[in-house]
This record gives sequence, C-alpha cells and structure tokens, in this order.
Amino acid sequence: MSSFALELLDATHDRKGFHSGLDAIDLYLKETARGHTDKGVSLTWVLVNPDAAPPKPILGYFSLTPCMVEAAGWPHVPKGLPRNPVGAVLLGRMGVAKSIQGVGLGTRLLALARRISSDSLAGTGRIGMVVDAATVELIGFYEKFGFRRITPDSRRLFLPTRSLVQPPGD
Ligand SMILES: CC(C)(COP(=O)(O)OP(=O)(O)OC[C@H]1O[C@@H](n2cnc3c(N)ncnc32)[C@H](O)[C@@H]1OP(=O)(O)O)[C@@H](O)C(=O)NCCC(=O)NCCS
Repeated sequence: MSSFALELLDATHDRKGFHSGLDAIDLYLKETARGHTDKGVSLTWVLVNPDAAPPKPILGYFSLTPCMVEAAGWPHVPKGLPRNPVGAVLLGRMGVAKSIQGVGLGTRLLALARRISSDSLAGTGRIGMVVDAATVELIGFYEKFGFRRITPDSRRLFLPTRSLVQPPGD
C-alpha cells in the first residue's frame, strides 16, 4: 500500500470535502472535531497524502478520548475490577472517504488508533479501548480485529490494553 501521513487535525485539512457515507461521521469532522482537538477534549487524527497541499484532502480519520467505564463483568477485563468507573480510551469516531473504502484504509486507521492508544496508556494506566459501533453491521468490522461486545446485544465493544498492539503482520 502506498505511503500515507497521519496528522493531528488542523486548519490545513479539508474537513468539508470529507464524505464517508455516514452523516454522523461526516458532521462530527466538519463541525466538532477541530474545536475538540484544539481544546484537548478529544484528539482527531487524519490520514492524508504526504504530498498534498492545503486544503489537504482527508482520506480517513479517527478520534480518541479518555473515558470512564463500569467494566466489571465485561469479556477480557481483569477479575476483581473495582465496581466504580475505571479509565479506558474511547474510539469515538472513525471513517474512511467513501471513494477509497474497501482497500484497507479502515484496517490501517484502526491499527494506528490502537498504537497511539497503547503508547498513551502505557504512561497512565487504563483498561483498554471502547468503541460504539454506529450500526449493527459494523459490529463485525470491529470483531474482526479482536474487539468483543460487552454484552451479547450491545453495540459497545471492548479491546483490553494487552491486545491493543497487534503482532507484526496481523
Ligand atoms: C467502516 C469503515 C471505516 C471501514 O473502512 P474500510 O477502509 O472500508 O475497511 P477495510 O478496507 O480496511 O476493510 C477491512 C475489513 O472490514 C470489512 N468491513 C468494511 N466495512 C465494513 C462494514 N461496514 N461492516 C462490516 N465489515 C466491514 C471489510 O469487508 C474487510 O473485511 P475482509 O478483510 O474480510 O475483506 C468504512 O467503511 C467507513 O468509513 N464507513 C462509513 C463510516 C463508518 O461506518 N464509521 C464507523 C463508525 S463506528
């Protein structure tokens, strides 16, 4: 696969030109992601062509934010977790431009989100990554990468910290 650059969202990126096919994902990028990134509420990372000139087309993006979860009883969480909320990282949004979906960019974005989360959690201690699948169909996408539903009928999925970094070639 050709090379891409992962950058923190800023004014050089063409947020309005991004279309993933899911309105909530597109709207968040257009209207909310910049403000949240600037304020440190959450960080949005965008995948761009390294040679692109501003306004740089966004090929895909994801947003990460710390969160608190009541995780006792979830699959893959350590036994004996406190009953009160514990820290995790939320993969809040993720999307790939519609015109280039299906060629592996979603896989690459998820791997990058996992790597960044793993690096940041190493210094702070959190139990893993949480994601809320936007549709029932998307549950399969995340399960493919090791996420497990927190209950059989939930759209929330979880990946423990120890599984965040994939072995080479995975
Ligand atoms: C979901 C999304 C990020 C996947 O990105 P992508 O670049 O198309 O994914 P990839 O090409 O890396 O596909 C990886 C695998 O996931 C599968 N997959 C892709 N989209 C899927 C979906 N919507 N549901 C279930 N599986 C899906 C692919 O078939 C592929 O499986 P394979 O390896 O067995 O062939 C992208 O389709 C997208 O942006 N959709 C609209 C926005 C969205 O739904 N965001 C997620 C919100 S929770």
